[in-house]
Amino acid sequence: MSALPGSFEGTAVTGLDSSPVESSPETLAQLPPLTAQHEAEAAQIMARYPQARSALLPMLHLVQSVQGYVSPEGVGFCARLLGLTKAEVGAVATFYTMYKRHPTGRHLVSVCTNTLCAVLGGQRIYDAVSADLGVGHDQTAPDGSVTLEHAECLAACDYAPVVTVDYEFYDQQDVQSARELVAALRRGEKPAPTRGAPLTDFRGISRQLAGLSQHADPAAVRAAVDGPSAGEPTLRGVRLAAERGETAPPMTGPAPEAAPDPDVTPAAGAGQSAEERAADTAVASADTPAERAGAAQHHPDVPEPAGRQPAERGAEGTDTPPTGPGAGTNNSVEREV
Ligand code: FES
Repeated sequence: MSALPGSFEGTAVTGLDSSPVESSPETLAQLPPLTAQHEAEAAQIMARYPQARSALLPMLHLVQSVQGYVSPEGVGFCARLLGLTKAEVGAVATFYTMYKRHPTGRHLVSVCTNTLCAVLGGQRIYDAVSADLGVGHDQTAPDGSVTLEHAECLAACDYAPVVTVDYEFYDQQDVQSARELVAALRRGEKPAPTRGAPLTDFRGISRQLAGLSQHADPAAVRAAVDGPSAGEPTLRGVRLAAERGETAPPMTGPAPEAAPDPDVTPAAGAGQSAEERAADTAVASADTPAERAGAAQHHPDVPEPAGRQPAERGAEGTDTPPTGPGAGTNNSVEREV
C-alpha cells in the first residue's frame, strides 16, 4: 500500500488516516467533562482484570461514551488511572479504527466497501450517502446527526451489501434503502436494525462496549438481549447441511481427566499431559499433509522458536516507564495525542 498518509486512497482502503486528534479550543470547551462518576466506573472496569492496564480498551470506549471521541483529556484520564504514559494510551487509541480522533455525530454510519459488498453495490451506497450528507470518510454532517465512514468487512458477507449504524446491522441494503435510512436518522428517528439490539446512539453503544449498561430501564435491557440474532442467509446454510446429512467434525479438544484405574496396565500415551494427548490426537486425525504439519507445529513438545520466549523481565511484559518530570515520555508522540 503506497498511498500517502492522509490521502483519500489511504483512508478509503485502510480506514486509517494520519490526521491529528481534534483539540481546537472551541471543541474542547464544549465537551462534557470526565467526572468522579466516570472515575468510579473506570475503577469498576479495571477491577475485572488481573492487571489494571488490560482495561485500556473498554476505558477508551468509556471516554467515547462521554465525549464522543478519544479526546486529549480522555487520553490523560486513561493514562493517569492505569499508570501508563500518554504515549502508550495514544499508541493504542490511534491503532484501532473504532477509537475516533474527532467528535462523532449522534450516529456513526459505516458502509462496507470491502470485496463482497463492493461488487454488490457497497461503493454506490457509500457514494450516494456521502453526496446526501455532503461529507466524506470520517467526517460529520454539519447538523451533527451522522458521521460517515468507509468500513472494511463487517463480518456479515452473507447479508451484503451491509451498512451498520452504531455497530447495529442493516442488511442487504441498496442505494435507495440506505439513503432512506440515513434520512430517517437525520430526522431523529431510530429505524429498527435487521438484526441485533434496538438502535440507540454512538455514545450509548460506546458505553455498552465499555461493559456498562446503556439502559436504565429493565425493559430496554430485555429488548436488547432479545433482538433478532440470525437471518435467512445464515440459517440457509444450516438447513442445507441438515438436508444433506452433513455434520461438523468432532472437536479435538483435551479430553477430561479420568482417575487412573490401578488394575489397568498403562497404555500408549500414559504419562502425557491432557494437552499432549490432545495434540497427538490432532496430528493423528489430520486429513491432509498440510493439516498434519500445522497440527504438529502446535504440539507442546515442539520447542519455541528463538525470539518467541516469554519476556524475562517479569510476568507483566513491557515495563511502564517511570513517571515524574521528564521521565520516560515520548514527547513527539505526546504532542500528537
Ligand atoms: S464484505 Fe461487506 S460484510 Fe464482508
